[in-house]
Amino acid sequence: MNFLIMGLPGAGKGTQAAKIVEKFGVAHISTGDMFRAAIANKTEMGVLAKRYMDKGELVPDEVTNGIVKERLAQEDIAERGFLLDGYPRTIEQAYALDETLSALGLKLNGVINIEVNPESLIERLSGRIIHKKTGETFHKIFNPPVGDYNEDDYYQREDDKPETVKRRLDVNIAQGKPILDHYRKVGIVSDIQGNQEIDAVFTDIEKAIVAIK
Ligand code: AP5
Ligand code: MG
Repeated sequence: MNFLIMGLPGAGKGTQAAKIVEKFGVAHISTGDMFRAAIANKTEMGVLAKRYMDKGELVPDEVTNGIVKERLAQEDIAERGFLLDGYPRTIEQAYALDETLSALGLKLNGVINIEVNPESLIERLSGRIIHKKTGETFHKIFNPPVGDYNEDDYYQREDDKPETVKRRLDVNIAQGKPILDHYRKVGIVSDIQGNQEIDAVFTDIEKAIVAIK
């Protein structure tokens, strides 16, 4: 099964993607995670991506389309299926994805759209903490790590500063609607209420996936 997970910054894409991958075994492809890995490895692409990400802007389409195309062409995808997280983010990326999938003989089965009240997102992003070793995402209040908590084992994302978050939200609100409209036309969008407990959101996503299967 091949899916997209969409939603504004902080909607819970990464949190839910981890649960979907655990349950359904698909490959998680997060363009944000790929760029952050490139930044950590100080690659040429990482240096370029950082310039945009630090300002809350989108990395240029040709760069982003290229890395997704390369990843989707790898062997495991046809066997396991994929869950794209944070891509497409512009209508041009959606068209590029259509072309890539058709060239690879892959079909998109569903789009999971997490709908959230934008006012709740600042609080979610300012409290987000990520485990340095495992990359697992938590929230200081809404989803605290279990067991002993040592602040030094976690980091906060550079782009989770309030000024950058505001720009990320503006950019994503402006770009999101045409993408959803594109997929609504073919009737593959499942709207999920994201302002619920994490497990309740996942229950709704599971139901939507099972209905698609
Ligand atoms: P990316 O990494 O994709 O970031 P984003 O879309 O801004 O989304 P986030 O990862 O911040 O949020 P999320 O929805 O995954 O939420 P999470 O589960 O962590 O992109 C970063 C940047 O990379 C972009 O700004 C851009 O520059 C670049 N980029 C990436 N893709 C690109 C593309 N296609 N084209 C161009 N540029 C691109 O949850 C957030 C917090 O809330 C956590 O603390 C979590 O514990 C908590 N939480 C989750 N669910 C709930 C809940 N139900 N209730 C309470 N708290 C919750
Ligand atoms: Mg994420």
